[in-house]
Amino acid sequence: KKLAILVSGRGSNFEAIARQIRAGKLQAEIAAVVANVPSAKALETAETLGLPAISLPSKGIDTDTYAAMVVEQLAPLGIDLIILAGFMRRVGTPLLEAYRDRILNIHPSLLPSFPGLHVQQQALDYGVKFSGCTVHFVDAGLDTGPIVAQAVVPVLDGDTADTLAARILVEEHKIFSEAIALILSGAYRVEGRRVIRKD
Ligand code: GRF
Repeated sequence: KKLAILVSGRGSNFEAIARQIRAGKLQAEIAAVVANVPSAKALETAETLGLPAISLPSKGIDTDTYAAMVVEQLAPLGIDLIILAGFMRRVGTPLLEAYRDRILNIHPSLLPSFPGLHVQQQALDYGVKFSGCTVHFVDAGLDTGPIVAQAVVPVLDGDTADTLAARILVEEHKIFSEAIALILSGAYRVEGRRVIRKD
């Protein structure tokens, strides 16, 4: 099965997925790494790993126009699943329609708590004792689609946004590949908001 990975920055989740594939633990092929920010470190990583890296800047382009550009780039590649791995733009309608129920995102909080940006700081400010990360299908809302996987980490008294983010990131790197494997296997069904494993 073919993945397209959309990134905006560091790309540690992308790298973790690529390594799982290399290790034979995830049966998939990364057919494209698309960055909407030309300086994204993920593009360098893709080149180092010998994966097809596409710089497609989104600056100054509205959400739906950009989504149509991504659809056009991906169309010839036969992509089965789109992975948003630190992709910091909203996903426009053309992409949602072309890949309905075939786009996954990872978010560094336990949704539905703390959607949006700066979520580790939001968690600290709220005073929660646990946070974590969520892999979910992407729909038209902001971080609202059906949840595929979550992992929990404690929030410690001495935490800053950075130390909490680092603890969450370790879990992100684990659950994203597991969630991708489940969705690619097709052994699930979506009932309302619930993603249920089939045995
Ligand atoms: C991660 O925390 C992810 O949950 C969020 O953006 C960050 C991306 O990190 N959506 P990286 O680019 O994968 O290192």
